[in-house]
Amino acid sequence: MSGKENDYIDEAFKTNWIAPLGPNLDAFEKETRAVTGAKEAVAVSSGTAAIHLALSLLNVTKGDTVFCSSLTFIASANPIIYQGAEPVFIDSEPDSWNMSPQALEQALQDAFREGRLPKAVIIVHLYGQIAKMDELLALCGQYNVPVIEDAAESLGSTYKGKASGTLGKFGIYSFNGNKIITTSGGGMIVSDDIEALQRARFLATQARDAAPHYQHSNLGYNYRMSNILAGVGIAQMQVLNERVEARRKVFTRYEKELGHLPGFTFMPELDNTRTNRWLTALTVDKRKAGVTTAQLIHALAERNVEARPVWKPLHLQPLFRGTKYYPQDKENHIAEQLFQTGICLPSGSNLSEAEQQRVIDCIKEVQARTSLTKGII
Ligand SMILES: Cc1ncc(COP(=O)(O)O)c(C=O)c1O
Repeated sequence: MSGKENDYIDEAFKTNWIAPLGPNLDAFEKETRAVTGAKEAVAVSSGTAAIHLALSLLNVTKGDTVFCSSLTFIASANPIIYQGAEPVFIDSEPDSWNMSPQALEQALQDAFREGRLPKAVIIVHLYGQIAKMDELLALCGQYNVPVIEDAAESLGSTYKGKASGTLGKFGIYSFNGNKIITTSGGGMIVSDDIEALQRARFLATQARDAAPHYQHSNLGYNYRMSNILAGVGIAQMQVLNERVEARRKVFTRYEKELGHLPGFTFMPELDNTRTNRWLTALTVDKRKAGVTTAQLIHALAERNVEARPVWKPLHLQPLFRGTKYYPQDKENHIAEQLFQTGICLPSGSNLSEAEQQRVIDCIKEVQARTSLTKGII
């Protein structure tokens, strides 16, 4: 927290705006529009709810397909199932770790041939890194398929100067407790289509018709953010840039200290993009490094430090067994390779230099020990 959150919460209590509407909510949405450049923003209860609303707005329904990045958190794809539609998973490419234009092209060509184009493509910006949007948007434009940007992890990142989440038809952010800024739980849907987002607001508040009594002609949801949590969001949005700087500093330090170790390759940053480095992620080639990511995660855990594997690709999840998936090409299944070799290090904006040094020392020590035993150095 930045310290200012309580002021906005107190104001909500003083003025008795204890509801999913009120001045904090309006101000948080306004602030989000100002920070991202999106024409409209609607605050909701989670990033997952925001994706669900985006799919509803695009009339995704039973029997439809939706393409989605495979290398991501499950929440990117669950709302596809909520709508009764079918996901098709698209592999990553190595430059950004995000959706592969090559795999997407193949998937779109096949879908076109079968007369079954997807209703939407969900492109995820993993760990803050923006996908190759020019290429991906051009492909989707060619087939007239709308893009939902899952920018849950990438608020504060930019692509050619534009905010992540503002490049497709709809963008979504998450303010879950683990995100770059947080409202403890919450999300936002943004778009330049003001009319569509008016409908999002309507759907998010139980889709109540304009009648003096309670009347409903559409299926709605209870997805609006509370005015109290929006107060937390206003104060958090004011420190977004600071948080991005802090996370980038954490990344740079890890890279400087560990980047020279054999087989250690840090997540790249695409030209003309600036990532928020939400999490510092890297791959470790066990043949060169003499150590596996599992060994590193275990050694860190023994020192009470939490590190994590990269997301398990969704096409490998038991929940999605049998789901269609397009790899980068026959030989290269990039998301699987990243899952097998990837690790996320502690990356909190408030990580102290001493804490980070503990992580660095542990990794150096384990790598040196294991590679010595294996006769690598
Ligand atoms: C890529 C991605 N998409 C969607 C979500 C869902 O956001 P929320 O937890 O706010 O529902 C998250 C994070 O939780 C995420 O990391």
